[in-house]
Amino acid sequence: MTIKAAQARPADPCCLVIFGASGDLTHRLLVPALYNLAASGLLPEAFALIGVARSESSSQAFRDDLARSLPKFATRKVDSVIVKKFLDCVAYVQGEPDDPKTYQALGRELSRIEGERKTKGNRLFYLATPPAAFVPIGTHLGESGLAREDNGAWRRIIIEKPFGTDLASARTLNRKLLSLLKEDQIFRIDHYLGKETVQNILVLRFANGLFEPIWNRDHIDHVQITVAEALTVGRRGNYYDATGALRDMVPNHLFQLLSLIAMEPPSRFAADSVRAQKAELLDSVQLQSPDEALRNSVRAQYGEGAIDNKRVEAYRATEDVKQNSTTETYAALKLVIDNWRWAGVPFYLRTGKALRTKLTEVAIKFKQAPIAMFRDTPVENLAQNFLVLRIQPQECIGLEFNAKVPGPSITIGGVGMTFKYEDYFDVAPSTGYETLIYDCMIGDAILYPRADGIEAGWRIVQPFMDAWRVANGKGLATYRGGSDGPAEADWLLNADGRRWRAIA
Ligand code: BG6
Repeated sequence: MTIKAAQARPADPCCLVIFGASGDLTHRLLVPALYNLAASGLLPEAFALIGVARSESSSQAFRDDLARSLPKFATRKVDSVIVKKFLDCVAYVQGEPDDPKTYQALGRELSRIEGERKTKGNRLFYLATPPAAFVPIGTHLGESGLAREDNGAWRRIIIEKPFGTDLASARTLNRKLLSLLKEDQIFRIDHYLGKETVQNILVLRFANGLFEPIWNRDHIDHVQITVAEALTVGRRGNYYDATGALRDMVPNHLFQLLSLIAMEPPSRFAADSVRAQKAELLDSVQLQSPDEALRNSVRAQYGEGAIDNKRVEAYRATEDVKQNSTTETYAALKLVIDNWRWAGVPFYLRTGKALRTKLTEVAIKFKQAPIAMFRDTPVENLAQNFLVLRIQPQECIGLEFNAKVPGPSITIGGVGMTFKYEDYFDVAPSTGYETLIYDCMIGDAILYPRADGIEAGWRIVQPFMDAWRVANGKGLATYRGGSDGPAEADWLLNADGRRWRAIA
C-alpha cells in the first residue's frame, strides 16, 4: 500500500527575490524546487520571482537561462504549461550587492511587479550568495526600507550556510542582522532539515509511545551519527581548503541530526517550542578543554584511492588546494551531553569526503541484554541491538536484534526489520528545498534554527577548531580515498570498547 503525499494549501501571495540568481544553487536547487511547488499547486497564484546578480543580463535572458537549466536539474518530468506560467512571472535586476543603486533598481522592479502580480507586498529575500555578501545585502535591505514590514505585509530573509566561520563571526552576523530585522524575519537555512527522513525523526520519537520510555541512559549505550560522502572536493578546492570537514558539516548538518535525536520533547509542535528544545540540547553538550578536544577527535585527509573502480586523486592534488594543506576532509568527534537523559552516553559523530560510499545515518545502540541465560552463546556472537535511522541514500528505519536460528539447539542469529519509505509512501522526488521555501512563505520557522541554536553549535566546535589550529599539522591522519576513513577513527571507539558501523 502506498500513501500519497499530504495536501497543503498554496503559500501566501508573495514576491521572491533571489540574490545570487546566476549561481549554481539557484539553477540546481532553488528553481527546480519552485517548479515542484508550482507543479504541486503550492505556489500561490499571486507570485513573482526577481533574480538579482552581478552579471549583465535582462529579464528575458534570465527567463531563457532558467528555461534551459530547469529540464537539466528538475527532479520530475517538466510540463511546458507549468514552466511557461512560472517563467511569466520572472524578472531580473542587475547589480552589485554592495551598491545602493542595486536596491533602488530592485525597489522599482518590486513596485512594478507587485502591482502587476498582486503579491500584497509580501517579500521573501533569498541570499543564495557567498557569505561575504550576507552583511552588505542585509544592511542595504534593512536601510533602504525594502525589508520593513508595514500595512500587514510580511518581509522575510533566508540566509544560506555557512552562517559564520566560527563562534565570533556567527555572533557578529547574528548581531548585525538582528539590528536590521526582527528574529522572526530571519530564516537561517540548513538543507538537512528539508529532508523528509530528518523531519521524520521528530515524528518517530514523539508520535509513538514506544520509544520515549527507553530513549535515555538506562537503555541506550551510545549513538553514532555518520554523514559519509563518496564525493571528493572536486572543483570546490577554494572554498573547502579554507573551511574543512568540521566547519562544512558539523555545526550545521550533524548538529541538526544530533539535536533532533537527543532533545527533550517540546510542549507543542510549534517553531518556538521545537527550536528552544534544540538550542537547549546543544547548550547541554559539554565544552571540551584543548586536551580533551584533541583526545576526543580525529581529523584526517584523503590520499589517493579508488571509488567505484574510479581513481581518486589525493586531496592535496586537488585544484586550488595548497600542496601542504592541513585542512581536514574527515572529522570524527566524541561528545558528551550533560543532562539527566544522556549522562554517560557518548555520541560519536563522523563525516568525510571521498569515503567508500554515500551514507547518512543515525544509529542508536541499545544496551546488551544480560547474557547469563545464553551462557553457551559467546557474547560476541549476539547481534547488537541497533535502531538505525537511515537518511541517505535509501530512506529507511531498521531495527537489528537477535532471533533463534531454527533447529533443535538454541542458536542465536542477528536479524533485522526494515521499514523503507518507498514501500509506503508515494512521494515525488524532491530537491529538499521545497518544504523549506514553502514554510518560509507561510511563516513557519519550525525547520529553521534560531540565533541561539546556531551559536550553541559553534560554541561546541570552537574548542576543536582551536586545538587543531594550535596542533597545526600534528595529529592529522590520512585515509585512502574510497575507504571507511582513517584507522585513528576506529581507535576513538575501540578505546571505549565499541566500534563504528561499516560504511556500506
Ligand atoms: C553542503 C556541504 O552543505 O552539504 C557540502 O557544503 C556537502 O560539502 C553537502 O557535500 C552534503 O549534502 P547532502 O544533502 O548531499 O548530504
